[in-house]
Amino acid sequence: MKPDSPLIAGNWKMHGLKSSIGELQQIIAGAKALPKVAVMVCPPATLVAQFSAAAAGSRVAIGGQDCHAKRSGAFTGDISAEMLKDAGAAAVIVGHSERRQYHGETDATVRTKAEAGQRAGLLPIICVGETRGQRDAGQTMAVIAGQLDGSLPDAADFAVAYEPVWAIGSGQTPRPRDVAEVHGLIRDRLRLRYGEKGDRVRILYGGSVTPANARELLTAENVDGALVGGASLKAEEFLAIAAVYR
Ligand code: PGA
Repeated sequence: MKPDSPLIAGNWKMHGLKSSIGELQQIIAGAKALPKVAVMVCPPATLVAQFSAAAAGSRVAIGGQDCHAKRSGAFTGDISAEMLKDAGAAAVIVGHSERRQYHGETDATVRTKAEAGQRAGLLPIICVGETRGQRDAGQTMAVIAGQLDGSLPDAADFAVAYEPVWAIGSGQTPRPRDVAEVHGLIRDRLRLRYGEKGDRVRILYGGSVTPANARELLTAENVDGALVGGASLKAEEFLAIAAVYR
C-alpha cells in the first residue's frame, strides 16, 4: 500500500510576521483546486495559532518546525509538542539539518522529539541528509542509514524528509536518479523495520525545490512529496510546486 496522498509542506524557517497571513490565505485558496495533494505550511512558532485559526476547515494543515521532547518543564525558550497541538498544529518537523547543525541535535535527540510529536498526536516529519563532503566521499547511503536507525521512533506514524544538506538553500539539487536511489534505500529500510506499514510512510524530498525543477524531482521513484523552504514563502511558487500533483 502506498501513502494516502503526496504531501507538499512549506518550511518557513525564521521568516514571517502576522502580516504574512495574506500568503497563507492565497495558499488556502489555491489548495482548493489541488485535491490530490496534502498541503501544509510550517510557520515560525509565533504564527502557529494564528495560521491554524485561519486554516481551520480548509485543505491546508499547519505544522511546527521543532519541539522539545518533554511535555512541559523548566526549559526556557522551548516549546513542547503538546503546545503545538494546542495551538492547532497537525505536524512537526524534527531533526532539520539546521537544528542538527546550529543546536547540536543528535539522532537520539531527534528520535525523542519525534516520539514527543507522536505522543501529542502530531505527525513528525523527520529530516535526514548527507553533507557535500559525505556525498563526495561516497558515504551517502551509510550516513542516511545511520540517521534513520538513530532518529526513527518505533511506531510507523511519521514522514521522512530526505534533504541533502548541500542542496538546502543553495540552488543545487541532486539528479532525479540520485534522489530515487536514496529514497529507494529509505523505503527498503522502512520495510525492513516496519513491514507493510513502512510502505505507507511518506518520503519527502527537500532542498532547493522550485517550480522549475519540481516535476523532475517529485516524479522520481519513491518520492511522496516535498519539504520546501525558500519557495514556500511565496504562495504562487509554493502552489506551482504542489500543482505537480494536479
Ligand atoms: P530550501 O530549504 O527549499 O530553501 O532549499 C528546504 C529546507 O531546508 O527544508
